[in-house]
Amino acid sequence: MIAIGSDHGGFALKQELMRHLEQQGLAYKDYGTYTADSCDYPAYGEAVGRAVASGEADRGIIICGTGIGISIAANKIKGVRAALCGDCYSAEMARRHNDANVLALGARVLGPGLALKIADTFLGTEFEGGRHARRVAMLGELETREG
Ligand code: RB5
Repeated sequence: MIAIGSDHGGFALKQELMRHLEQQGLAYKDYGTYTADSCDYPAYGEAVGRAVASGEADRGIIICGTGIGISIAANKIKGVRAALCGDCYSAEMARRHNDANVLALGARVLGPGLALKIADTFLGTEFEGGRHARRVAMLGELETREG
């Protein structure tokens, strides 16, 4: 299952993304926001981040105006590796090398066509493992340290 969430800045793109996932028969759960009214992106980055970190969701996609604020929020959750991507190459490498489990998109930065293509790339690419597994483990290690 793919957890998706956005603030008001990403609301319209989230609606398009849901239609797109439905067309592909991919299961998703919408963690809000549920209207275009102004709201606070940290809440939605947290909700999707927790769904992925707990194993409730396999992957997450989060959207705000730039993708920046909501990716910062999601990355505060232990176990989340959220990657803000503005191109397909970054989305592919975020999966292959970083084992990113959450994709962040900027709805005011990207056109919807590119944004959906980036999401497809992210969802369709596997982690390479090997030497990258050691580096990803080091990222997890950072979460266990204080300060
Ligand atoms: C909301 O206006 C905007 O600040 C938000 O969507 C996002 O871009 C923050 O990083």
